[in-house]
Amino acid sequence: MVPNTFINIAIDGYSSCGKSTIAKALAKDIGFTYIDSGAMYRCVTLFFIQHNIDLSNDQAITDALAKIVLDVNETEFLLNGKDVSNEIRNMQISQLVSKVAAIKLVRTKMVAIQQAVGNSKNVVMDGRDIGTAVFPKAQLKIFMTADPAIRAKRRYDELIAKSENVSLAEIAENISMRDYEDTHRSESPLRQAEDAIVLDNSHLNPTEQLNFVKDLLSSRQLIAL
Ligand code: CDP
Repeated sequence: MVPNTFINIAIDGYSSCGKSTIAKALAKDIGFTYIDSGAMYRCVTLFFIQHNIDLSNDQAITDALAKIVLDVNETEFLLNGKDVSNEIRNMQISQLVSKVAAIKLVRTKMVAIQQAVGNSKNVVMDGRDIGTAVFPKAQLKIFMTADPAIRAKRRYDELIAKSENVSLAEIAENISMRDYEDTHRSESPLRQAEDAIVLDNSHLNPTEQLNFVKDLLSSRQLIAL
């Protein structure tokens, strides 16, 4: 196997703890490509809802996956050519996405796409299994966590700013359900990789958390500060 010459930075962690905020800012700062792997699972979930796919029917899932073309770049998410960036963040998707993401057929297809990107350029990728399954040899792995109440409030503010009609209680419940499902599934459950560095950002602002990760990259000589 040819060794990967590109730098892969894996940022995993619980729901709504700010992985995408830091991953996006970091990628921009150091000139890497940012990939939001959760958005890929959200796009698949949207397609399954739109086409009434029975999640217990492997053949229906295989057929549906063959019809999905994803184009995920830094700013927008295209599902078969249509911009679904806003739609994939709504509560209906958040309620189902962890069940869809637990399906092996779905993960196999998503992970292959993610690995192909990471083998062709320097990436910062956030998700649940990036350091454990997608890029087990990532040069830096961060495992993020934050106080559940703080996470719920952050996601609530984000959705309210987009005029979504949601309550803090339903967000808190959704986050705790996804944390449970993501950590208890048999396929690549969310867990901290042995060589991951824990980042609890409950009381850090975006600049502080960005500097925390940049200092780590610099100490490993992956970037020059
Ligand atoms: O941004 P948020 O924390 O709400 O979640 P997300 O990153 O958009 O991911 C949505 C869901 O996709 C998660 O709750 C997981 O069930 C699933 N996911 C996964 O299984 N593996 C990944 N690498 C990324 C997300």
